[in-house]
Amino acid sequence: MIEIDSAPADRSRDAVGGIRSDREPFSPPTVSFQTLGCRLNQSESASLGAGFFSAGFKILDEEMPADLCVINTCSVTEQAEARCRGLIRRILKKNPTTFIAVTGCYAQAGVEALRKMPGIDLIVGTEYKMDLPLLVRKVSGGKALSKRETPMVFHTTKISRNDFTIKNERGNPFAPGPTLSDPAFDFATRPNIKIQDGCDFFCSFCIIPYTRGRERSRRMEDILLEVSIWVARGHREIVLTGVNLGEYRFEEKDLSDLIEGLEALDGLHRIRISSIEPTTVSTRLLDQMARSQKLCPYLHLPLQSGSDKILAAMGRKYTRQEYLAFVEEAVEKIPNLGLGTDVMVGFPGEGEEEFQETVSLVASLPFSYLHVFPFSRRKGTRVVQMDLPAVHPSVVKKRSKMLCDLSKKRREDFYQAAAGRTVEVLFETRNDQGLFCGLTPNYIRVGVASDQDLSGQLRPVRILEAAGGLARGIVVGEGRGE
Ligand code: F3S
Repeated sequence: MIEIDSAPADRSRDAVGGIRSDREPFSPPTVSFQTLGCRLNQSESASLGAGFFSAGFKILDEEMPADLCVINTCSVTEQAEARCRGLIRRILKKNPTTFIAVTGCYAQAGVEALRKMPGIDLIVGTEYKMDLPLLVRKVSGGKALSKRETPMVFHTTKISRNDFTIKNERGNPFAPGPTLSDPAFDFATRPNIKIQDGCDFFCSFCIIPYTRGRERSRRMEDILLEVSIWVARGHREIVLTGVNLGEYRFEEKDLSDLIEGLEALDGLHRIRISSIEPTTVSTRLLDQMARSQKLCPYLHLPLQSGSDKILAAMGRKYTRQEYLAFVEEAVEKIPNLGLGTDVMVGFPGEGEEEFQETVSLVASLPFSYLHVFPFSRRKGTRVVQMDLPAVHPSVVKKRSKMLCDLSKKRREDFYQAAAGRTVEVLFETRNDQGLFCGLTPNYIRVGVASDQDLSGQLRPVRILEAAGGLARGIVVGEGRGE
């Protein structure tokens, strides 16, 4: 086992290439990706895919047997970690000769457990995650990848606090190279753009500051360059992602400055902010959202609990009243706001009274959906040291179901309220009933029957009805931005 405490000596792109496949003579080595966890992981897998592509790898679909399988893991709950281990076992069972490289949050937080798992060849913690193509090259020594007796480990407990760039392996959009159908690049209709990493908030239940380190931001010009490449390739919407997005700071610029820079890009029609901590949303950002033609009227504001007692124990930075006032301001300013939230159920010490406070707060606010998470005890987090009674799993299950039912109802109501209106939909793909589906700016999923391939197009759609988590409508005009 090798553990390094300093940066790999050579991070240059040229050092990456040269690995051969032993499948067929002269055929390029193949790599597939398995990505678990959040949008940030998806965004990083896409960047890694571009890195491997530049290094001469052929990117295969995640189900196909490849010379190398990169597993980008999550550690947010015990179940997420168990899923990672199950996935590794399944891949090895299907293809025992595949070289397994594990990276992501579980590779950082669960390195000791992963070391003991048979069949893993390479473990790469957070500090070196984006160097993975280079590290694979190092491990192979330029030869065909072959299974190892013990895994090579690149891991440090300390994670850099420096602002960062992401090497833009995607390169010039007009140069020959990757095509839109190349799965390496996560050519989702709405690419996730990583702008920030790490978190300094240290909520008592959350492992992410330990898996991803402290707050740091991506250089603004680097973000603008990446987005301009996506736009040149025909993408109309981008989704800004980070661990604590509202803490974006680069030199004197903040998130609103970045959005202003993005709004100036011709051809970019939609900018969406993914989950953002309520205390980091400035009045300026709300005003921008209220008047912008590009910034989507959509906020996902994690609440976690409606009880002041539980919010304090969680180390959240607001009270129930402050959250309420904030949402009221947002709703008042931004017409047709799509508003989502996260609620944690079963945090230690959450009695019936505290849970009912959550229910009453959620009921009083115009959320269009909730993401409900059961509490998961994470070793190393502050809550483990707190003397608080655990909530029985059957109670957690019951409370989760209640909130999930409420979420379903809210989504239906929100969608039905749009019936009769004409909205703009950015189409993505067909669903299993053959309807072409896409999203409105305020996050209503809309499906239409159409013989045409509408993917990537922005079209006006009249909503007719809503049921089962989908609003159905008809296209009523030509698109823009084609
Ligand atoms: Fe999971 Fe790490 Fe994202 S713990 S949710 S992959 S930041």
